[in-house]
Amino acid sequence: MSTPQQRIRTLVQTLNRYAREYYTLDAPSVPDAEYDRLYRELEALEAEYPQFRLPESPTQRVGGAVLDGFETVVHAVPMLSLNNAFSPRNDETGAFDHAEFLAFDERVCKELGVSQVEYAAEPKFDGLAVSLLYQNGILVQAATRGDGTTGENVTENIKTVRNIPLKLHGEKQPALLEVRGEVLMLKADFAALNQRQLEAGQKPFANPRNAAAGSLRQLDSKITAQRKLHFFAYGIAQLSGAERLPESHMEELALLHELGFSLPEGYFGAYTGAAAVLREYERLAEHRPRLPYEIDGMVVKVNSLAEQQQLGFVSRAPRWAIAHKFPAEEALTTVEAIDVQVGRTGAITPVARLAPVFVGGVTVTNATLHNQDEVARKDVRVGDTVVVRRAGDVIPEVVRVLLERRPMVEKQPALGGDLFLLRRNSQSSFSGSLEPLHEPFRLPETCPVCGSAVEREAGEAVARCTGGMLCQAQRAQGLIHFASRKAMDIAGLGDKQIEALVAADVLHSFADIYQLDIAKLQTIKDSKSAATKWAQNILDSIAQSRTPPFARFLFALGIRHVGESTAKQLAAAFGNLDTVRRAPEPILACLPDIGSIVAHAIAHYFRQPAQQKMLDDLLQHVTPQAAAPSPQTRAHAAPEQWLQRLPGIKLSEKRAAELWQLAGSLHALQTDQALPQEWQDWRRQPAHATLLQDIIAFTEALPENSAGDVSGSLHPENSSIAGKTFVLTGTLPTLKRDQAAALIEAAGGKVSGSVSKKTDFVVAGEAAGSKLEKAQALGVTVLSEEELLGMLGGAD
Ligand code: IVH
Repeated sequence: MSTPQQRIRTLVQTLNRYAREYYTLDAPSVPDAEYDRLYRELEALEAEYPQFRLPESPTQRVGGAVLDGFETVVHAVPMLSLNNAFSPRNDETGAFDHAEFLAFDERVCKELGVSQVEYAAEPKFDGLAVSLLYQNGILVQAATRGDGTTGENVTENIKTVRNIPLKLHGEKQPALLEVRGEVLMLKADFAALNQRQLEAGQKPFANPRNAAAGSLRQLDSKITAQRKLHFFAYGIAQLSGAERLPESHMEELALLHELGFSLPEGYFGAYTGAAAVLREYERLAEHRPRLPYEIDGMVVKVNSLAEQQQLGFVSRAPRWAIAHKFPAEEALTTVEAIDVQVGRTGAITPVARLAPVFVGGVTVTNATLHNQDEVARKDVRVGDTVVVRRAGDVIPEVVRVLLERRPMVEKQPALGGDLFLLRRNSQSSFSGSLEPLHEPFRLPETCPVCGSAVEREAGEAVARCTGGMLCQAQRAQGLIHFASRKAMDIAGLGDKQIEALVAADVLHSFADIYQLDIAKLQTIKDSKSAATKWAQNILDSIAQSRTPPFARFLFALGIRHVGESTAKQLAAAFGNLDTVRRAPEPILACLPDIGSIVAHAIAHYFRQPAQQKMLDDLLQHVTPQAAAPSPQTRAHAAPEQWLQRLPGIKLSEKRAAELWQLAGSLHALQTDQALPQEWQDWRRQPAHATLLQDIIAFTEALPENSAGDVSGSLHPENSSIAGKTFVLTGTLPTLKRDQAAALIEAAGGKVSGSVSKKTDFVVAGEAAGSKLEKAQALGVTVLSEEELLGMLGGAD
């Protein structure tokens, strides 16, 4: 009989061997049930004797504690990138043009002084680069690539990846091994995950890469464990204490395989000379759709490590390797119909409905035609045979039409213009002219969803439905945006629920959200008993959203061109909704980072009577947090600034300054008869006179920026924070990073992602890494959360 400790050891060894056979060698030697039986025995023993638990035990793979954030890891050997070579296909023959790869080969040959080089070639995996560190055979750390110098510590998550050994295989363990490779999600696991996401009412992932990235960056490793990630090794960054050292890339791969890592079976090897590499490239390109994982090219590396060293690096990429990318995947299919889709902002997008076609590993049935100009340029019509392309994670698109396959009809003048459908190649006795069967596509003049007019602004490619929230398509999407996390943050009211509530005619406007009750919510749930708690939770989060920070509220409205950062800008400048609503367009355009297009969109939005009403209704239920406008706004909105931005008169910076100097006062701008004629002509027009009056009244009401004297105003700026740049790093004891950032921004400070000489303060929490080091090196003041809160709370 063995002792519990011995038994644990035997079980771990046996289970790890079975796992290696299953996941890495793809050759299981025992049925799953046998594995499960031993696994349960091990679990029970470990529970009884936790002191004997081994770091490489397979029970470590189920995930554990939830982290607050990822620590930073400085890579001992930087994780570099690769230069790319593209091989576009010839439009007619479909043959590859390998000029870029051949140029790479030529450089390598020249540098090494040889006529032919031995290369190693392997897939370019479309996943995420990670680095795995083993000490005495045990996985001790795993990190993402990050910026190449520092990454994130994802050890707990990586341990859940079944084909990554927790302990290296074999008797002799190197003292230190750092493996580089790619974490990805197999296509089949991706499809299953998306199926589960859909069933749970959650958003599907766009592609396996995003799914892998999202899964690897989970703070709760139990979630990662359920996601089924996969790892392929493609290199060694550090190795010491090994029996022998590899001399080539292929030897590195062989060693990695012996130690328990998966390699892309059947798709890696050594090839001498460019021609052999290119043959392999073409084979890989052909097999690409059938591979169980996504790849976007082939990585070609000089095989000899000595030659690699001789070639060295240039600006963060090796000169001994190249990512030989595949061209985007293309296929032929036919256009069955051309529909238009209406987006959240009313954008009308023509979409080609296609006969299903398999491209780049997925079946494509729709492709975007972008906008009217694009449809016209490509002249895509119903019935056309088209080339569709799918590149990486972008939406499939129609590349071009095969005009020679367009269905045609012959117009027969002798028969009074009757049309006969003909096959192109059929023998025909008709002598009339051939015409396309279908007319060119034109965007509808009214919205297919709500019937409102479709308009296209001058200079814009996109046409839009003018219905706003009157349009059901925009309504649902507008409401989804309104309730989303970065907007009003109404938890539980997601895409599915809102779409159902809109379809059930319960939700029409933002204000309706605040009139929801349990009964209304239950109309979209079948089982009433389970629905009560769910509905109550939603009502609680709706209640919590009633006093939003002003910037979030503005962002939530979904005004065109007003993203999160513009909303923050507007909120910081104007403080409250009333002021933004009244702000004349030329004043809006004076704010930093808000150009004339954005200013126009904002002013236009608030001018619409329907929007006014919708906002007033909403304000019955919601009270955005309000502050006085910032004193800087008055400086931004100085007359010499807004004078340059008036409609109907184009004043250069110089002319605006001259005019303002001549006038000397706002009153004179309105009345002085001695001002230039052009100006007097402009202001004579009633609409211009009113605008001038509005601007003046508006700017005069803004708080003065008399330096140091802001004590009487309500505005939130804080002199120790306003205008200062902050960088947040590490985990703060109580605040989340975005909360701390919001507090700083609300007090007039700026938050930046990286430390430089311009940084005024670094706020550092637990496990602060390289940013803290950089701050210390540059002598930037480092604050704790408590100190930051002190500054925020302190009177100035
Ligand atoms: S070798 C110094 N091999 O490509 C070169 N990289 O652009 C180190 N990648 O971040 C990279 N498959 O994520 C290498 N077989 C492969 C690869 C590969 C995918 C990715 C990797 C890296 C990026 C470099």
